[in-house]
Amino acid sequence: MSRAPSFAPVDVVARTLRVELTAARSRRGGAAPRVLDVGGGSGTWAVPLAADGCEVTVVDSSANALAVLRSRARESGVAGGVRAVQGDVDALADVVAEAEADLVLGHGLLEYVDDPAEACRALALATVPGGALSLLVAGRFAAVLSRVVAGRLEEARRVLVDPSGRWGANDPLRRRMDVEEIRTLVEVDGQLSVERVQGHRVLADLVPDGVLDSGGAVPDPLAELEDIAAGTPPLRDMASQLHVLARRPG
Ligand SMILES: C[S@@+](CC[C@H](N)C(=O)[O-])C[C@H]1O[C@@H](n2cnc3c(N)ncnc32)[C@H](O)[C@@H]1O
Repeated sequence: MSRAPSFAPVDVVARTLRVELTAARSRRGGAAPRVLDVGGGSGTWAVPLAADGCEVTVVDSSANALAVLRSRARESGVAGGVRAVQGDVDALADVVAEAEADLVLGHGLLEYVDDPAEACRALALATVPGGALSLLVAGRFAAVLSRVVAGRLEEARRVLVDPSGRWGANDPLRRRMDVEEIRTLVEVDGQLSVERVQGHRVLADLVPDGVLDSGGAVPDPLAELEDIAAGTPPLRDMASQLHVLARRPG
């Protein structure tokens, strides 16, 4: 059995979720927090969360991704804490009960669905009143910059002006968003209120390899810097993924 994975110390999203889960555990009198990870795929988030003592249900439309998830969970010794369910966010109520989870994740999901507003509604319904929804979505401005750096100027222009932030018909993503777009989407029905919007790994991926490798440990100054940058526009707005923490009113 391999060691259960945990999150990188510079990961502000993971730290935000830990705070949320500590509060959920306390609301539940010490019982394990219930996490629903929709579009959870092969378990990038689900497996470490199970290793942190959560009861995790992953709903994903891909049978292949769920097979990888099951094997990763087994190898990490957390198979008992992860339930894998094949299903679609468009029909989430068919596979999970209303208000089932203390924390609902939709990480890397809204970029693929037909109707992101409908998906947000379904995710909100699955969240217990007082619980939280965590969304990670592809950022529009990071995609503009990455295309410029690659010399793809026409694609960069299209990402900037296209209403869905796509670079063309062959773009594998159906949309990218900026901070205002994701905030508006989440709050549109008044079922959720946004508590935090932050950039995911705003600066950490820019640090040269040698700096992180020296001594084998991630230096604290990077975590501190990342923490500040994650919430500081315009650095926040240029992250490749934007993180939203929203709450279903209690
Ligand atoms: C980019 S991956 C993200 C995986 C994981 N959440 C992460 O952050 O690493 C997107 C996942 O969403 C799943 N997916 C796409 N459309 C879906 C839908 N309509 N309902 C449920 N899952 C979906 C895909 O099968 C895939 O596993």
